[in-house]
Amino acid sequence: MSMNGKKALITGSSRGIGRGIALKLAEGGVKVAINYYENEAAANDTLAKVRECGSDGFVIQADVSRPEDIGNMFKRVKEEFGNLDIFVSNARTQLPTFYQTPMDITLEQWDMAMDSQAKAFLVGVRESTRLMDHGGRVLAITYSPGARTGSWQPWVAMGSAKAALDSLVRYFAVALAPRGITVNGISPGGVFGAPNLVEGSVLRALPQEIQDSIQAWHESGWTPMKRLGTPADIGNAVMLLCMEEAGFITGQVIHVDGGASIMDTVFPLEIQRG
Ligand SMILES: NC(=O)c1ccc[n+]([C@@H]2O[C@H](COP(=O)([O-])OP(=O)(O)OC[C@H]3O[C@@H](n4cnc5c(N)ncnc54)[C@H](OP(=O)(O)O)[C@@H]3O)[C@@H](O)[C@H]2O)c1
Repeated sequence: MSMNGKKALITGSSRGIGRGIALKLAEGGVKVAINYYENEAAANDTLAKVRECGSDGFVIQADVSRPEDIGNMFKRVKEEFGNLDIFVSNARTQLPTFYQTPMDITLEQWDMAMDSQAKAFLVGVRESTRLMDHGGRVLAITYSPGARTGSWQPWVAMGSAKAALDSLVRYFAVALAPRGITVNGISPGGVFGAPNLVEGSVLRALPQEIQDSIQAWHESGWTPMKRLGTPADIGNAVMLLCMEEAGFITGQVIHVDGGASIMDTVFPLEIQRG
């Protein structure tokens, strides 16, 4: 099915996974509103690449943790596009704004995680679907392992925020089904991308030895496909869920992780291999 001429807004699409999603949609002929927070040059670079794909769009600054910014962002989308077909809630604030253990996290860090994920999605879905007049697609980029587990201690706020996001996916799926709007979550595993902070994801900000150790972990078999994900892998999954043929899939959180989420972590890999 051709996606030609459809219109999308992707939060946090100046870099990383958001950029990967923008480029995949653009390859399919979708026009893209590219949201960024502070990195305008990277957002403009995404737009240039969208145009190289033969599509078009515009860039828009907004802090998704501020509901008034989200309102203004969708006003601009209405001015530029008139209506909207696809909304992808992808942005995540940088680590220092939320990364702290449960006993030490500040309430500001907690609020930033919740506001940039759950509240941003609540407000973003209500605003975006006002512009969807003939069905549509809403997608949340989540991280379900962090929502389900408790081991990664400084992830407590983001894990809790993503849990709320996963839950909102289900509630909005029911609310919007009568209008032909599907609402789904995509949960990437570890995503690296290119070895820079524009084409790569936030994991590229980690020290090289930590990146090497993450890569070795996945290649050892804890990801059955023996590689980390790429922004393009996540873009492909978004593209699939935006197709006409995906119109009966709603309220689901789909793991796009090369099988990492189906591994049994209780026993050593060597024993499980048999
Ligand atoms: N990377 C992974 O391995 C991984 C795994 C699972 C899930 N995820 C999820 O995938 C999504 C993208 O992650 P990523 O690794 O690609 O992130 P990233 O490389 O750090 O990029 C973050 C993006 O969000 C934007 N942003 C930051 N704060 C914002 C704010 N307050 N308002 C609006 N935009 C803001 C940034 O804009 P600027 O360029 O202007 O700063 C940038 O475009 C996140 O939801 C994350 O939780 C990632």
